[in-house]
Amino acid sequence: MKTRITKMFGVEHPIIQGGMHYVGFAELAAAVSNAGGLGIITGLTQQTPERLANEIARCRDMTDKPIGVNLTFLPIVNEPDYPGLIRAVIDGGVKIVETAGNNPAKWLPVLKDNGITVIHKCTTVRHSLKAQEIGCDAVSVDGFECGGHPGEDDIPNMILLPRAADELEIPFIASGGMADARSLVASLAMGAEGMNMGTRFIATKEAPVHDNVKAAIVAASELDTRLVMRPLRNTERVLTNAAVDRLLQKEHDLGANIRFEDIAPEVTDVYPKVMLDGDMDVGAWSCGMVAGLIDDIPTCRELIDRIMAEAETLVRHRLEGLLAA
Ligand SMILES: Cc1cc2nc3c(=O)[nH]c(=O)nc-3n(C[C@H](O)[C@H](O)[C@H](O)COP(=O)(O)O)c2cc1C
Repeated sequence: MKTRITKMFGVEHPIIQGGMHYVGFAELAAAVSNAGGLGIITGLTQQTPERLANEIARCRDMTDKPIGVNLTFLPIVNEPDYPGLIRAVIDGGVKIVETAGNNPAKWLPVLKDNGITVIHKCTTVRHSLKAQEIGCDAVSVDGFECGGHPGEDDIPNMILLPRAADELEIPFIASGGMADARSLVASLAMGAEGMNMGTRFIATKEAPVHDNVKAAIVAASELDTRLVMRPLRNTERVLTNAAVDRLLQKEHDLGANIRFEDIAPEVTDVYPKVMLDGDMDVGAWSCGMVAGLIDDIPTCRELIDRIMAEAETLVRHRLEGLLAA
């Protein structure tokens, strides 16, 4: 399948693995890229430029296909060493960056001057238009269903994607709630040029996370995620667990007076303990509603091959067949 996105990124299939904290290590990125999609290393998980450079080099040892790096720009006082991380990306020869979080305008000149293609993740049409205006090459449009941070506008992809198609000139991919060939074909029908998957890629053989995490995703239904940190305007969709129940109780009890410090025990330093140690109730961790569509743990190649084969059947038989009938 050829789309503006496969051409832009030089990949075989229009399937991207979104950056994921403590999931997007070299092993997963390489497996996705080797299967013909675009694998992405999560920059901030590596913490320092030296460690990111090492992770990129490890990934390069596992694949000669295009790979990307996610740079999430956080609104925090003690900023990570973004210039150093960007230098590691450039020196590592990575040509694709997925930006997320704050407006990436400040960092675009150095990325573009070094021949890097930038895809920015947005949860609204207005942010997507801004990304287009400041010179991003593509956007990843993240609907309300998504695992992670869906923003504060709560627009699901059935509305968000056609709205993006109506407004944008640069290509966009559908993100949030994507799991299979049905997701891909529907996204293409709504104007996207491919799809981005987060939660689905965690439940794969190569994702270097604890088996408890994969089992939790397989066991979860579409009813098992919750939105936390809404009162702080930093909404995150997470898998429900005991810590999430505690956190939501605090939000309920403290109302508008809640401060980050009140919920810090449930959201600080959670990812290594969940993803690496498999300590599932230690805190809130991102997971999409799409968990309800995930019931196996394939390799990345099995997953991507299945999606592409079923997408072809959907288009050629089901959709064409409806017309013929
Ligand atoms: C465990 C987890 C961690 C994530 N961490 C990040 C991150 O560090 N930066 C980022 O831009 N997006 C992050 N995301 C969002 C994903 O890149 C992607 O946009 C999202 O998962 C898409 O929704 P889906 O889970 O329904 O596929 C994370 C998602 C999950 C599930």
